[in-house]
Amino acid sequence: MSEGDALPLGKLEIRVLHTPGHTPACVTYLIGDAAFVGDTLFMPDYGTARSDFPGGSAEALYASIRRILALPPETRMFVGHDYLPEGRNTFRWETSVAEQNSDNVHIHAGVTAEDFVAMRKARDAQLEAPLLILPSLQVNIRAGALPPASPGGRRYLKLPLNAI
Ligand SMILES: [Fe+2]
Repeated sequence: MSEGDALPLGKLEIRVLHTPGHTPACVTYLIGDAAFVGDTLFMPDYGTARSDFPGGSAEALYASIRRILALPPETRMFVGHDYLPEGRNTFRWETSVAEQNSDNVHIHAGVTAEDFVAMRKARDAQLEAPLLILPSLQVNIRAGALPPASPGGRRYLKLPLNAI
């Protein structure tokens, strides 16, 4: 999918916004009054996605999020993960453009690109590699296709012994 694409969905249409930053390939899907933002913004009390993966960019993430937050305030927003910030123990997945603009702990209205990029880079420098990064990359890089089966029928992912 690319910026500006439109896919029919029954009587609706899926519109595509290219919203890079977490990865260069990230997109947001707009369907009616709903935005599916993947890993760009999380719930307002958690903030935003890391931008230190290969091809990631805190500057690009800021620009992408500002585009998303320029959608109509009543736009419903569905996030890609909820990591349960301290003080909350029930999962949430739906918020709105208005709520993000007023309450997002990283990027509410008024946070400058400079401040956001500095915050994001400092935070990313302290994050561990995700637990499942090695298996995930090996499947994602093939667009979800699993590796070919071995002669015995099992499929194997590779595990480097001298990395991470
Ligand atoms: Fe992600």
